[in-house]
Amino acid sequence: MAVKQSNKYILGGSSEELDRIHGIHETIVSHIGTVLLAPVDFSSSGLRVLDSGTAGGRWLRDLREEKGGEHEFIGTDITESFFPQEPKPEDGITYKTQDITQPWPQGWDQSFDLVHQRFVLGGIRQPFLKDAIGNLMNLVKPGGWILLMESDVSERVVNGEQDGAAEVWRLLRHLYMAMGVEPDPDKYLRDWFEEAGLVDIHEQRIFVPVGAGRSDPEMRDRSLRSVVVTAQHLAMGAKQVGIPSFPADELDALPGRVQTALEKKGGGLHVYAIWARRSLR
Ligand SMILES: C[S@@+](CC[C@H](N)C(=O)[O-])C[C@H]1O[C@@H](n2cnc3c(N)ncnc32)[C@H](O)[C@@H]1O
Repeated sequence: MAVKQSNKYILGGSSEELDRIHGIHETIVSHIGTVLLAPVDFSSSGLRVLDSGTAGGRWLRDLREEKGGEHEFIGTDITESFFPQEPKPEDGITYKTQDITQPWPQGWDQSFDLVHQRFVLGGIRQPFLKDAIGNLMNLVKPGGWILLMESDVSERVVNGEQDGAAEVWRLLRHLYMAMGVEPDPDKYLRDWFEEAGLVDIHEQRIFVPVGAGRSDPEMRDRSLRSVVVTAQHLAMGAKQVGIPSFPADELDALPGRVQTALEKKGGGLHVYAIWARRSLR
């Protein structure tokens, strides 16, 4: 097992970053048409749902609205400042600080009907990846589901010449590599799911249009702004980390260039999702 690292979210815990996170969430959900790709049965009440790396809990609130019913929702994150200051009791969501590289609370083993985690693996370094995934899988009860979603920043995506956002994903890929984060976790996840004995494994790659590619004017603007702010925040992160192939003047110019490209030709978010179930026996 890898030794403990001290983790902190590189894009910071500001309200502007939280708004960017919500903008990306809306961009994706409005395109896919659901917050949940896995076929979890919400018809009976009392399901226990975990959203790991929940930030402000937006995914959980939207899941609750989409599925209805009375369920127990828990949102965990390393960045406490993202949690709602005064969580509404009617949301039925409990928030808890948790680093995914650290042991989960006692008693949570095999206790969740659904474990969801989106865009969090970029926050942990490669040596911690397999254990972190193993610990998450361990939270799923027999018959329960796990769903992971991550940005696809593969070589194919970051070199996409028709994609006005490709430069942003290239920067993200280089940032991951500079920080010792695995840029292609999708290469391993299916094997690890199989090793853990999970069944009904499904993978999906989704292209989510951003900017000019969106027909709804409101989402055209919201998606574009979210990706431009992503470029700004990644550029700030890259300056802290120092990436030789992205000098400071290049990083300063990136958001403006991306904005123009997304207005003119559009681009996209490339998402990879994998979900599976723990068998009943
Ligand atoms: C890009 S945001 C995604 C938020 C949310 N899951 C979503 O998809 O809208 C990444 C989140 O992961 C959290 N995070 C980063 N590293 C983490 C870690 N080691 N353990 C738990 N959460 C972490 C950050 O604080 C942040 O809220």
